[in-house]
Amino acid sequence: MPPERIPKTITKGFPKPPAYATDWGAMYCGDSLEHMRSMPGGCVDLVVTSPPFALVRKKDYGNLEAERYVTWFAEFGHEVKRILKETGSFVIDIGGSWLPGSPVRSTYHYKLLIELTKPGMLYLAQDFFWYSPSKLPTPAEWVTVRKVRVKDAVNTIWWLSKTPFPKASNERMSVEYSEAMRDLLRNGYTAKKRPSGHDISTKFQKDRGGAIPSNLIVVSHTTSNDYYQRRCRETNVPVHPARFPLDIPLYFINMLTDERDLVLDIFAGSNVTGWVCEHMKRRWLAFELEADFVKGSTYRFEKNSPALNGIEYISGKKEVKFRRLRMTSSPAKLPTGQKRGM
Ligand SMILES: C[S@@+](CC[C@H](N)C(=O)[O-])C[C@H]1O[C@@H](n2cnc3c(N)ncnc32)[C@H](O)[C@@H]1O
Repeated sequence: MPPERIPKTITKGFPKPPAYATDWGAMYCGDSLEHMRSMPGGCVDLVVTSPPFALVRKKDYGNLEAERYVTWFAEFGHEVKRILKETGSFVIDIGGSWLPGSPVRSTYHYKLLIELTKPGMLYLAQDFFWYSPSKLPTPAEWVTVRKVRVKDAVNTIWWLSKTPFPKASNERMSVEYSEAMRDLLRNGYTAKKRPSGHDISTKFQKDRGGAIPSNLIVVSHTTSNDYYQRRCRETNVPVHPARFPLDIPLYFINMLTDERDLVLDIFAGSNVTGWVCEHMKRRWLAFELEADFVKGSTYRFEKNSPALNGIEYISGKKEVKFRRLRMTSSPAKLPTGQKRGM
């Protein structure tokens, strides 16, 4: 499939030319709010992003305190809603945080969700939870020193949509069958009512290649020695401290967009989203404020940078007994739930 350019009508109001452009997309260095404001309405299929979090221990990129965070983010939310197509989705990966000096959690990410889903705004299509088995036991004071809290290893991911029926298909992904299910498929099953009253019919015996995944995504954090990091170190460019593992944008891009659709990351950082889109034949736009992060992101598109290996991904680690997540590209065209008689 030949790449398709992004129409000029979408980018003509941008303050500057792109920092770089590829076959499928372009990265712009600057404020995403300013860029979004100059875009026409209803032109984007998916906005997938990981915003700067309101963290207690500030990282070296712009975080605001938790209290001001929701007001700050709401402006971005309004613009995202305006530029999304009716069938579009807005996926936000957002980590939790602790109140300063206290073993008490901030509720800012839930407040943000409530703000973004208030009447007239967006719908919560589904909440996802990203479990990273490799997360460090922090905050150390509460988890490893006083031992009064457990390690915080889950990020929330809000899947928001403009209507209750964004285009989507869970058939695009499946998880390996459990041993019990494989046994059932091998040896058959007698259709009967369960003690719970559920009628288990013989259709359970059909091998569909895998089971429907749940809203718990198990992905470890990024490796410390990939191509992007090596190139950043070689050239003294800062490695982005909060990169997406590629499975996170990959999961939602695969489930919520078709080839040639337009995907946008408004807090692009090292541009994992653009890189995944490039390999999945989605058109993409990325906005990032910090020039150094933009520079580092160019390394992902060098000819020696490794390709995404097909679109089958291992998200679970064998040793923690999570099953493999598989992604496919069928159905060829995504349905909106409505058309299936819902
Ligand atoms: C959590 S990081 C995103 C990391 C990214 N997902 C990746 O894989 O590398 C958030 C990014 O948002 C950027 N940022 C903050 N405010 C911004 C704004 N108004 N416009 C564009 N980028 C912004 C920060 O510089 C930071 O790099």
